Amino acid sequence: MEKKRGAGTTIIHGGHGPYEGALPTDSVVAPIHQSTTFAFATVEEHQNSIFGDLRYPMYTRAASSNPTIRLLETKLAALYGADAALATASGMAAINYTLMHLLQPGDHVVLGRCYRLTHNIAQMILGDKMGVEYTLMLSDDVKDLPKFLNDRTKVLFLDVPSNPMITVYDLEQAVKIAHARGITVVLDETCATPLNLRAFDLGVDIVACSLTKYLCGHGDAVGGAIISNYKRVKQIRKGLYPRIGAAISPFNAWLIMQGLKTLHLRVPRHNQTTQALAEFLEKHPKVAHVFYPGLPSHPQYELAKRMMSGFGGLLSFVVKGGDPAATAMANWLKIGKIGTSFGQAETMVETGWMSHYEWSMDERIRFGIYPGFVRVAPGLEDAEDLIADFDQALAQIQVDETAVLPELKKEMELEWKPTVTTME
Ligand SMILES: Cc1ncc(COP(=O)(O)O)c(C=O)c1O
Repeated sequence: MEKKRGAGTTIIHGGHGPYEGALPTDSVVAPIHQSTTFAFATVEEHQNSIFGDLRYPMYTRAASSNPTIRLLETKLAALYGADAALATASGMAAINYTLMHLLQPGDHVVLGRCYRLTHNIAQMILGDKMGVEYTLMLSDDVKDLPKFLNDRTKVLFLDVPSNPMITVYDLEQAVKIAHARGITVVLDETCATPLNLRAFDLGVDIVACSLTKYLCGHGDAVGGAIISNYKRVKQIRKGLYPRIGAAISPFNAWLIMQGLKTLHLRVPRHNQTTQALAEFLEKHPKVAHVFYPGLPSHPQYELAKRMMSGFGGLLSFVVKGGDPAATAMANWLKIGKIGTSFGQAETMVETGWMSHYEWSMDERIRFGIYPGFVRVAPGLEDAEDLIADFDQALAQIQVDETAVLPELKKEMELEWKPTVTTME
């Protein structure tokens, strides 16, 4: 039996096939097929491709896609250990396609704590436009999951570790509960990456995630992907995908493939630096709390240790003194950059006020985004330099030593939904 290849070999060589019509020599770096359309020698060959399950690329935005995008997709499938992948214009497009494909008017979906715009999709697109009901599961313990389900629940959507609360859900347990009721489990694995979390080994049905972050790794291309079995991916590819038209560009697919080559080198480095920064911040007298699953103080530390092979490259913490102190600290940083997104070479810092500007303070506290909340995505700089940067920034700020974390509401709320506002 052929020995199973390691992550690095799979990342670099996986998904490359012998392509029909290829030259006897091969370009080691995949070419960019910057073409919208692909011509056939005859009408019959064109039609044979259509009836032959789209063997050849025909049109870049269509189900038949483009050779550069197809290569990214086969590489992603190899990396995730899945049958198939569909690359999309962004992570948001991947999540939208997946949820719109799985849900019909009258259905119900349960979302864990997840990325703010995923809640917006649930409310603005699924709820307001499609008549799909959604419930936000505020409990971090999946034993509570049955309380949020009903006869119309078709999908459970989780984000692990969640952005920005860094919640880790027990996926094996969640899958067991969901599958017993015929519910499909979708995972946004953007923050974990397939190197820290093997979603399909835990029984997850579909991964819908952003490629913009760690998979690309350099902050230079936006993209997303849906990864699952052949049947599901094919249904989306031939159904909503070309009709909505949120295809990734060949150039972005190529940039993501270039970044992907070093994923197995970058992710352990992000994990290590984030762990070191989390340990430093947890001991800092001006910090009220640190959210990182690599810390024994994290409520899902034991679970994360069991379920994940790395704790990830995102942490959040709360500065004593609330938002004014968090703002001042962020403004003093010299290495950490103030801005959204993560998973790239540069350390990115975003406060709760920045990421959740739509929500009132009361709503933020209900969700767990306390006054003084800061999310940090350490980049590839040296950990000592990054720690020194946070140390000097924290030294500059005045904090209210009496400031403590507000009490989180203990009871589960089945009705509460965060605000969705659109910018006029
Ligand atoms: C967890 C998570 N999922 C999905 C997305 C959306 O990804 P994209 O920006 O590629 O649309 C983001 C963006 O920040 C995210 O943090």
